[in-house]
Amino acid sequence: MDLTNSTPPAVSSAPLTLALIVASDREGRFGPVVADWFRTRLAEREDFTVTVVDLAEVDLPTSLSHDPSPAVRAELAKVSPVLADADAFVVLTPEYNHSFPASLKNLIDRHYTEWQAKPVGFVSYGGVSGGLRAVEQLRQVFAEMHSVTVRDTVSFHNAHGRFDQDGRLQDPAAAEGAAKVLLDQLGWWGRALKDAKSVRPYGS
Ligand SMILES: Cc1cc2nc3c(=O)[nH]c(=O)nc-3n(C[C@H](O)[C@H](O)[C@H](O)COP(=O)(O)O)c2cc1C
Repeated sequence: MDLTNSTPPAVSSAPLTLALIVASDREGRFGPVVADWFRTRLAEREDFTVTVVDLAEVDLPTSLSHDPSPAVRAELAKVSPVLADADAFVVLTPEYNHSFPASLKNLIDRHYTEWQAKPVGFVSYGGVSGGLRAVEQLRQVFAEMHSVTVRDTVSFHNAHGRFDQDGRLQDPAAAEGAAKVLLDQLGWWGRALKDAKSVRPYGS
Protein backbone atom coordinates (compact mmCIF):
# COMPACT_ATOMS: atom_id res chain seq x y z
CA MET A 1 0.00 0.00 0.00
CA ASP A 2 1.35 3.43 -0.96
CA LEU A 3 0.97 5.63 2.10
CA THR A 4 2.70 8.62 0.57
CA ASN A 5 -0.27 9.49 -1.61
CA SER A 6 -3.03 8.77 0.91
CA THR A 7 -5.12 11.85 1.64
CA PRO A 8 -6.20 12.32 5.25
CA PRO A 9 -9.94 12.80 5.77
CA ALA A 10 -11.03 16.44 5.77
CA VAL A 11 -11.48 17.79 9.26
CA SER A 12 -13.37 20.93 10.16
CA SER A 13 -12.29 23.58 12.63
CA ALA A 14 -15.71 25.26 12.71
CA PRO A 15 -17.19 25.75 16.18
CA LEU A 16 -18.98 22.78 17.67
CA THR A 17 -22.69 23.08 18.31
CA LEU A 18 -23.27 22.69 22.03
CA ALA A 19 -26.65 22.17 23.69
CA LEU A 20 -26.71 23.35 27.30
CA ILE A 21 -29.49 21.48 29.10
CA VAL A 22 -30.82 23.21 32.20
CA ALA A 23 -32.39 20.32 34.07
CA SER A 24 -34.30 21.87 36.96
CA ASP A 25 -37.87 22.89 36.28
CA ARG A 26 -38.64 23.42 39.95
CA GLU A 27 -40.67 26.46 40.98
CA GLY A 28 -38.28 28.90 42.64
CA ARG A 29 -35.28 27.01 41.26
CA PHE A 30 -31.68 28.13 41.73
CA GLY A 31 -30.59 26.65 38.41
CA PRO A 32 -30.66 29.87 36.34
CA VAL A 33 -28.02 31.44 38.63
CA VAL A 34 -25.60 28.61 37.88
CA ALA A 35 -26.66 28.51 34.22
CA ASP A 36 -25.99 32.25 33.77
CA TRP A 37 -22.53 31.85 35.29
CA PHE A 38 -21.74 28.95 32.98
CA ARG A 39 -23.12 30.75 29.91
CA THR A 40 -20.65 33.53 30.63
CA ARG A 41 -17.86 30.95 30.57
CA LEU A 42 -19.14 29.65 27.24
CA ALA A 43 -19.33 33.15 25.79
CA GLU A 44 -15.59 33.51 26.40
CA ARG A 45 -14.87 30.65 24.00
CA GLU A 46 -14.78 30.55 20.24
CA ASP A 47 -14.91 26.77 19.88
CA PHE A 48 -18.62 26.39 20.67
CA THR A 49 -21.89 27.87 19.53
CA VAL A 50 -24.49 27.39 22.23
CA THR A 51 -28.21 26.68 22.34
CA VAL A 52 -29.94 26.44 25.70
CA VAL A 53 -32.57 23.78 26.38
CA ASP A 54 -34.34 24.95 29.51
CA LEU A 55 -36.61 22.21 30.80
CA ALA A 56 -38.73 24.76 32.67
CA GLU A 57 -39.84 25.95 29.23
CA VAL A 58 -40.79 22.50 27.96
CA ASP A 59 -44.00 20.87 29.11
CA LEU A 60 -43.55 17.13 28.59
CA PRO A 61 -45.72 14.60 30.46
CA THR A 62 -43.91 11.79 32.21
CA SER A 63 -46.06 9.16 30.48
CA LEU A 64 -44.28 8.04 27.30
CA SER A 65 -46.17 7.16 24.12
CA HIS A 66 -45.32 5.84 20.66
CA ASP A 67 -48.07 8.09 19.35
CA PRO A 68 -47.75 11.42 21.20
CA SER A 69 -50.61 13.89 21.12
CA PRO A 70 -50.27 17.01 18.96
CA ALA A 71 -49.59 19.02 22.12
CA VAL A 72 -46.71 16.72 23.10
CA ARG A 73 -45.37 16.74 19.54
CA ALA A 74 -45.34 20.53 19.67
CA GLU A 75 -43.32 20.45 22.88
CA LEU A 76 -40.90 17.91 21.46
CA ALA A 77 -40.45 20.10 18.40
CA LYS A 78 -38.91 22.71 20.70
CA VAL A 79 -36.17 20.39 21.90
CA SER A 80 -35.63 17.35 19.66
CA PRO A 81 -34.10 19.27 16.73
CA VAL A 82 -31.74 21.06 19.10
CA LEU A 83 -30.56 17.74 20.54
CA ALA A 84 -30.24 16.22 17.07
CA ASP A 85 -28.15 19.14 15.80
CA ALA A 86 -25.83 19.21 18.80
CA ASP A 87 -22.26 17.95 18.55
CA ALA A 88 -21.91 17.97 22.34
CA PHE A 89 -23.96 18.46 25.49
CA VAL A 90 -23.51 20.06 28.86
CA VAL A 91 -26.07 18.93 31.40
CA LEU A 92 -26.52 21.42 34.22
CA THR A 93 -28.21 19.56 37.04
CA PRO A 94 -29.04 19.82 40.72
CA GLU A 95 -29.21 16.83 43.03
CA TYR A 96 -32.56 15.69 44.38
CA ASN A 97 -32.47 12.85 46.90
CA HIS A 98 -29.08 11.62 45.70
CA SER A 99 -30.16 11.62 42.07
CA PHE A 100 -31.09 13.97 39.22
CA PRO A 101 -34.46 15.57 38.45
CA ALA A 102 -37.28 13.63 36.81
CA SER A 103 -37.53 16.36 34.16
CA LEU A 104 -34.09 15.37 32.91
CA LYS A 105 -34.81 11.63 32.87
CA ASN A 106 -37.96 12.36 30.90
CA LEU A 107 -35.98 14.30 28.29
CA ILE A 108 -33.34 11.57 28.06
CA ASP A 109 -35.89 8.75 27.70
CA ARG A 110 -37.77 10.55 24.95
CA HIS A 111 -34.69 10.57 22.70
CA TYR A 112 -32.13 8.02 21.54
CA THR A 113 -30.17 8.66 18.38
CA GLU A 114 -29.92 12.32 19.36
CA TRP A 115 -27.53 11.35 22.16
CA GLN A 116 -25.48 8.76 20.29
CA ALA A 117 -21.73 9.05 19.80
CA LYS A 118 -21.66 12.52 21.35
CA PRO A 119 -19.90 13.76 24.47
CA VAL A 120 -21.72 14.90 27.60
CA GLY A 121 -20.21 17.15 30.27
CA PHE A 122 -21.74 18.04 33.62
CA VAL A 123 -22.17 21.15 35.72
CA SER A 124 -23.81 20.17 38.99
CA TYR A 125 -24.90 21.86 42.17
CA GLY A 126 -26.70 21.03 45.37
CA GLY A 127 -26.24 20.85 49.11
CA VAL A 128 -23.34 18.97 50.64
CA SER A 129 -22.76 16.78 47.60
CA GLY A 130 -22.52 19.47 44.94
CA GLY A 131 -24.65 17.23 42.75
CA LEU A 132 -21.89 14.67 42.33
CA ARG A 133 -24.14 11.73 43.12
CA ALA A 134 -26.57 12.91 40.46
CA VAL A 135 -23.70 13.08 37.98
CA GLU A 136 -22.45 9.58 38.77
CA GLN A 137 -25.94 8.20 38.11
CA LEU A 138 -26.16 10.15 34.86
CA ARG A 139 -22.95 8.54 33.64
CA GLN A 140 -24.71 5.16 33.78
CA VAL A 141 -27.75 6.50 31.97
CA PHE A 142 -25.75 8.17 29.21
CA ALA A 143 -23.67 5.04 28.65
CA GLU A 144 -26.92 3.34 27.68
CA MET A 145 -27.52 6.15 25.17
CA HIS A 146 -24.11 5.51 23.51
CA SER A 147 -22.85 8.86 24.76
CA VAL A 148 -19.37 9.58 26.09
CA THR A 149 -19.33 11.35 29.44
CA VAL A 150 -16.24 13.46 30.00
CA ARG A 151 -14.25 12.94 33.17
CA ASP A 152 -13.98 16.40 34.67
CA THR A 153 -16.97 18.32 35.94
CA VAL A 154 -17.86 21.60 37.55
CA SER A 155 -19.68 21.17 40.86
CA PHE A 156 -20.96 23.56 43.48
CA HIS A 157 -21.63 22.23 46.95
CA ASN A 158 -23.82 24.44 49.12
CA ALA A 159 -24.47 26.33 45.90
CA HIS A 160 -26.87 28.88 47.35
CA GLY A 161 -24.14 30.33 49.54
CA ARG A 162 -21.48 30.52 46.83
CA PHE A 163 -23.07 33.21 44.62
CA ASP A 164 -23.85 36.78 45.66
CA GLN A 165 -27.18 38.47 45.02
CA ASP A 166 -26.04 39.51 41.55
CA GLY A 167 -25.18 35.92 40.64
CA ARG A 168 -21.42 36.45 40.95
CA LEU A 169 -19.32 33.70 42.41
CA GLN A 170 -17.65 34.81 45.61
CA ASP A 171 -14.53 32.74 44.90
CA PRO A 172 -14.52 32.26 41.13
CA ALA A 173 -10.99 31.03 40.34
CA ALA A 174 -11.42 27.32 41.05
CA ALA A 175 -14.78 27.08 39.29
CA GLU A 176 -13.54 29.00 36.26
CA GLY A 177 -10.57 26.65 36.05
CA ALA A 178 -12.85 23.62 36.31
CA ALA A 179 -15.10 25.01 33.57
CA LYS A 180 -12.11 25.42 31.27
CA VAL A 181 -10.99 21.82 31.83
CA LEU A 182 -14.51 20.52 31.26
CA LEU A 183 -14.94 22.49 28.04
CA ASP A 184 -11.49 21.56 26.75
CA GLN A 185 -12.29 17.87 27.24
CA LEU A 186 -15.75 18.27 25.75
CA GLY A 187 -14.27 20.04 22.74
CA TRP A 188 -11.70 17.30 22.19
CA TRP A 189 -14.31 14.56 22.30
CA GLY A 190 -16.81 16.55 20.29
CA ARG A 191 -14.29 17.22 17.53
CA ALA A 192 -12.93 13.68 17.55
CA LEU A 193 -16.37 12.09 17.34
CA LYS A 194 -17.62 14.53 14.71
CA ASP A 195 -14.59 13.86 12.52
CA ALA A 196 -14.92 10.11 13.02
CA LYS A 197 -18.62 10.16 12.11
CA SER A 198 -17.85 12.11 8.93
CA VAL A 199 -15.70 9.17 7.82
CA ARG A 200 -17.72 6.30 9.29
CA PRO A 201 -21.31 6.87 10.52
CA TYR A 202 -21.92 5.50 13.98
CA GLY A 203 -23.89 2.25 13.96
CA SER A 204 -25.43 0.83 17.09
C1 LIG B 1 -36.57 17.43 46.51
C2 LIG B 1 -35.18 17.89 46.83
C3 LIG B 1 -34.23 16.96 47.19
C4 LIG B 1 -32.90 17.37 47.45
N1 LIG B 1 -31.96 16.43 47.74
C5 LIG B 1 -30.67 16.80 47.85
C6 LIG B 1 -29.65 15.82 48.02
O1 LIG B 1 -29.90 14.62 48.04
N2 LIG B 1 -28.36 16.22 48.10
C7 LIG B 1 -28.03 17.56 48.06
O2 LIG B 1 -26.85 17.86 48.16
N3 LIG B 1 -28.97 18.52 47.90
C8 LIG B 1 -30.28 18.17 47.78
N4 LIG B 1 -31.26 19.11 47.60
C9 LIG B 1 -30.83 20.52 47.51
C10 LIG B 1 -30.81 20.95 46.05
O3 LIG B 1 -29.82 20.30 45.31
C11 LIG B 1 -30.61 22.46 45.95
O4 LIG B 1 -31.65 23.08 46.66
C12 LIG B 1 -30.62 22.94 44.52
O5 LIG B 1 -30.55 24.34 44.52
C13 LIG B 1 -31.86 22.51 43.78
O6 LIG B 1 -31.80 22.96 42.46
P1 LIG B 1 -32.91 23.93 41.85
O7 LIG B 1 -33.13 25.02 42.88
O8 LIG B 1 -32.33 24.50 40.59
O9 LIG B 1 -34.13 23.11 41.61
C14 LIG B 1 -32.57 18.74 47.37
C15 LIG B 1 -33.56 19.67 47.03
C16 LIG B 1 -34.83 19.25 46.74
C17 LIG B 1 -35.87 20.27 46.34
